[in-house]
Amino acid sequence: MTMHIPEETVDEIRQSNDIVDVVGEYVALKKQGKNFFGLCPFHGEKTPSFSVTQDKQIFHCFGCGKGGNVFTFLMEIEGFSFYQAVQHLADKKGFSLSESLGSQQEQGVSNEEQMNLKAFEWLTKLYHHLLRHTKEGKQAYQYLLERGFSDEIIHTFQLGYSPQSKDLITQFLEKKGYHSQHMVNAGVLTTNDHNQTTDRFRGRVIFPIRNHLGKSVGFGGRTITDQEPKYLNSPESILFQKGKLLFNFDLARSSIRKSGQAILFEGYMDVIAAYQAGIMNGLATLGTSITEAQARLLNRYADTIIVCYDGDEAGINASYKAARLLHHIGSNVKVSAIPEGLDPDSYIAKYGSDRFKHEIIEASYTYISFLMEYFKKDYNLKLEGDRIQYIEKVIDELALINRPMEREYYAKELASEYELSMDTIVYEINNRRKKLGNHQDKQRTTSHTKSKLSFKKQNKLLPAFHNAEKQLLTYMLHDFYIAEKVKESLGASFNIDMHKIIVTHLYAFYEEGHEANISQFIERIDDDKIKNFIIELAMENVHADISDKEIQDYIRIIKAEHGDKAIIRGLQEEQKNAEIQQDFVRAAQIGMEILEIQKKIKNANH
Ligand code: UTP
Ligand code: MN
Repeated sequence: MTMHIPEETVDEIRQSNDIVDVVGEYVALKKQGKNFFGLCPFHGEKTPSFSVTQDKQIFHCFGCGKGGNVFTFLMEIEGFSFYQAVQHLADKKGFSLSESLGSQQEQGVSNEEQMNLKAFEWLTKLYHHLLRHTKEGKQAYQYLLERGFSDEIIHTFQLGYSPQSKDLITQFLEKKGYHSQHMVNAGVLTTNDHNQTTDRFRGRVIFPIRNHLGKSVGFGGRTITDQEPKYLNSPESILFQKGKLLFNFDLARSSIRKSGQAILFEGYMDVIAAYQAGIMNGLATLGTSITEAQARLLNRYADTIIVCYDGDEAGINASYKAARLLHHIGSNVKVSAIPEGLDPDSYIAKYGSDRFKHEIIEASYTYISFLMEYFKKDYNLKLEGDRIQYIEKVIDELALINRPMEREYYAKELASEYELSMDTIVYEINNRRKKLGNHQDKQRTTSHTKSKLSFKKQNKLLPAFHNAEKQLLTYMLHDFYIAEKVKESLGASFNIDMHKIIVTHLYAFYEEGHEANISQFIERIDDDKIKNFIIELAMENVHADISDKEIQDYIRIIKAEHGDKAIIRGLQEEQKNAEIQQDFVRAAQIGMEILEIQKKIKNANH
């Protein structure tokens, strides 16, 4: 179903949401010349080929070919409908789309999920209320205060409490129209030994877990009475996928983007304690090791990811795993060293936030220096044999580093620590790199450059008239007056069908009184292939001051193609007639003439 939103409203919303900001919430963008570049969120890559053009308000990936405007971007990345994308950006800027349209808001999410979302929202509010304002919640509230949390942070994270009562939550939900059995299926309620449905989180402090849009999709419940397990989480469901969600992602997002850094913690408590200490770019997995999906998500937003896990053996081993995975997918990883026996939350409580910032976060190990420390645990470095094995292992890692300066830096460190000559280490590193066959270097550069090159190359191989049409179209997209000029002398008689379709839409667009605006123009194109093609054209550089003569030249080339084509068509007709009349000599003569013209076209085009 298509929803009608007045065009002016859509325009207004598009104009008030800069595509660089919107995309920037999902992709770490760096300015390079006029464009912004980043890692494409739509296909895995290690070198950025995804670009955003601010003055045109469009994005385009040279790797996978996806492109569009701010709405298209949200539709792709969030799975929104056009309407949802508009609504989402309207909400952000405080516009209100009229009530009648509002009912379609959650389109795209199934009815059941919509119901569950609403249930989670109600429950978040209820648990929070019970914690803050009731007798039953007092002990839990006290517990949080003792752990150092302020009212403000309890509010921000909507921390709550589920009282011991057997049926308080069940009854609340039933009053709201939720069937108990349904809530059992949704993982909110459980069935106890006596076949009664009760709240899964009874007696626990509640940590609402929000998705990237800030909506509660599950809970973590911490015991305050040493019950097992310490934390109980909502069960896996379509809305609550532990391998995909990251705790606090929605709040951390803008701070990650600004600082270029994300800090990965192990626990909810750590994230909240850090947030209270002014470190807002912290996130955590939901009690499981970080998955590739989560790593990729982080990598899209942050240049650097700091792994800040607990200072015990389990924490260090988990840091190693997480750092390896993040490094493997191309992130710049660092690893913090929390003193043995502490975790980030207890470190902050003990030493304060300043020391946490300076002595833990800012003092994090680089990936390689972390590995150099970490590998030591498997060897007794006092023994010569062990020492050599250890050094070999470190050199294996150094050989994988692509930046020469970085390689040299660590080689020096290794040389001085183990009293080896630099020559020996460099020799060993180079030996290994030769064996690797420089595979890595090659791999890293392909996706970006290859696709750009193939685009350029394609242009060269095209016949002259085809290039002329593309060039002209590009100018027409950027300039209303050029479009007018072309309309007068060529109309829609482009030779390539795709171009014909585009100019037809473009003329209509300008006739309605619009100014040149590629981002707005592509909204009226339904076909993705055509849309992406327009974006690709729009990404080509144009000279602001193209001369009238150049335009006339393009038009001439395009017309000549009609001309020759028309002549050939006429000759082919004649040839057919000659054949019908069995005048084969004449038919052969005409055949020669056609070949001549075709040869002429071919030469003219090269
Ligand atoms: P921790 O045991 O390190 O907890 O587990 P914590 O965050 O330091 O909490 P406090 O300070 O003891 O209150 C780290 C994370 O592992 C998951 C939770 O997500 C927790 O935040 N976890 C832990 C579970 O899912 N279940 C458990 O039983 C324990
Ligand atoms: Mn803790």
